[in-house]
Amino acid sequence: MARKIIIDTDPGQDDAVAILLALASPELDVLGVTAVAGNVPLELTAKNARIVCELAGRPDVKVFAGCDRPLARDLVTAEHVHGKTGLDGPVMADPTMPLQAEHGVDFIIETLRREPADSVTLCPLGPLTNIATAFERAPDVVSRVARIVLMGGAYFEVGNITPAAEFNIYVDPEAARVVFGSGVPLTVLPLDATHKALTTADRVAAFRDLGTEVGRMVAEWTDFFERFDKEKYGSAGAPLHDPCVIAWLLRPELFSGREINVEIEVDSPLTRGMTVADWWRVTDRPANALFIGDVDAGGFFDLLTERLARLG
Ligand code: BDR
Ligand code: CA
Repeated sequence: MARKIIIDTDPGQDDAVAILLALASPELDVLGVTAVAGNVPLELTAKNARIVCELAGRPDVKVFAGCDRPLARDLVTAEHVHGKTGLDGPVMADPTMPLQAEHGVDFIIETLRREPADSVTLCPLGPLTNIATAFERAPDVVSRVARIVLMGGAYFEVGNITPAAEFNIYVDPEAARVVFGSGVPLTVLPLDATHKALTTADRVAAFRDLGTEVGRMVAEWTDFFERFDKEKYGSAGAPLHDPCVIAWLLRPELFSGREINVEIEVDSPLTRGMTVADWWRVTDRPANALFIGDVDAGGFFDLLTERLARLG
């Protein structure tokens, strides 16, 4: 039976590729997509999520708008990475599929109450505001979540939005603290892993050579997204952060990590949003996350390309 997931997202080109990968994979049953403010404001992430579902040929997917700002702070966005629309690169028409009327947080709560306990996996690809709000508003749903597999944080790789913090955690550290302290089994795909899942000219050419609309869009998105990381890190290409979450669900053997304790820095202005990961187990704080450190990039891109080829 397909694994039931909710994708919580702030598209974002790499979020878009993650959504396509999930929708192309029969092992996964996408119960809904909840948008959150992050890379760009909520209005755009909710619109972009629908553009991506339509591109996948899946206008039937339920897309909800969730929280429009972090729990306790002003929203910080990342147009400098993703462009003004959040999905800069190819020219795209506005979506015609509807946005669901229900709030994304209510959808998360109702779904967790309706589905059998331990049967729904949450896949956050942006700031953790929607998930934390659901947990705070409805504490009864926390123990019903099978697992949270999220993109966020960094340890050896340290920060991409500040010297200490990764973007998703930095934007809403209070929400991250709720999620990391929830007791739900966590898999964390930090920059330590995602910065190894880099596009190269050959990998982008493989997307383009699919000869489909999906292949062309993914190639154009990654071309756009690449320029930022190439300039900043001098890397060969762009890290496909968020698709690592979906790839871990499909092929966990492509990844390796450690069960460790991870705490979120909330108070310090200098290190706000830092994921303090006890990789060397130097404290006796209990493990709360499988923190991924490595990925087989070749295997990851083979999987991604093979799955995208299934989307017409
Ligand atoms: C994360 O931040 C966003 O810009 C990306 O979509 C990814 O989720 C990487 O730090
Ligand atoms: Ca994202």
